[in-house]
Amino acid sequence: MSRNYLNKQVLRENALVYDDYYQSGIIDGWEEHDKVYNFGHLFKIAKKAKMSLCNASVLDVGCGTGDIIPYLQKQGVKKYIGIDIYKPALRIAKKKYPQETFVLIDILDTTSSSSRTRRSRFTVPLKARLAFGGKSGMTTNKFDFVLSSGAISIKLKSLDNYEFLEAMVRKMWKMSRHGLAFNVLTDEDIAPAKHLFYYSIEKVRKLCKQIAPDAKIAIRRTPIHNRGYEDEAQIHVYMTKSSQLS
Ligand SMILES: C[S@@+](CC[C@H](N)C(=O)[O-])C[C@H]1O[C@@H](n2cnc3c(N)ncnc32)[C@H](O)[C@@H]1O
Repeated sequence: MSRNYLNKQVLRENALVYDDYYQSGIIDGWEEHDKVYNFGHLFKIAKKAKMSLCNASVLDVGCGTGDIIPYLQKQGVKKYIGIDIYKPALRIAKKKYPQETFVLIDILDTTSSSSRTRRSRFTVPLKARLAFGGKSGMTTNKFDFVLSSGAISIKLKSLDNYEFLEAMVRKMWKMSRHGLAFNVLTDEDIAPAKHLFYYSIEKVRKLCKQIAPDAKIAIRRTPIHNRGYEDEAQIHVYMTKSSQLS
């Protein structure tokens, strides 16, 4: 089953986790070096698609405070949109990177009809709708690459995490022209945190294959090295059109 949007309860659960992180000074839930490490892994999608990020368009799903932007700029990315469901993150993002486009919206809710009806959890301003490519852009627009770091990591109480993962991957894949890269924590972790969800690598692989039977899928173990603590087990998943993966 695929979801069209996150219900209020899930949005609240997400906000509670990030409120805690922000209060303890861990903005976006990562330390700076973890962010940069993950961005580097996400960028490998371009090579796997036998392309370059130079002049590409990128949708950053769960952009948080937008710290991927300077690294994307270095790669020469032409068009960037960051989206997130957590308002405090976007407030900071807009201050830090005033030239960039950020949209307060649930990726699962990015359809032209749902984003404008009463059912939608978010009001999407005209400027943001235009950034998605005009009138029908939010349903039809594609980005060269869709990247997502850390957006599928909270352990949800009111929604099955695999159902959430499936809906996220389905939507992100649909919105990508050449490739999708995202990360999740895995159940190989030996010291799991209560508020995070740890996925089975095999289930993730199977689910991606089901969603995109024609895609080339590569999964790489990319553990987060915590100084003084056990490493966190993480993977990066790369999905490209079958003709493109190297
Ligand atoms: C761990 S933070 C990472 C932020 C940023 N990507 C980084 O690496 O610095 C993940 C972000 O994903 C957002 N998120 C979770 N589910 C989302 C969804 N369905 N649509 C958009 N954003 C989402 C959260 O609110 C959170 O800000």
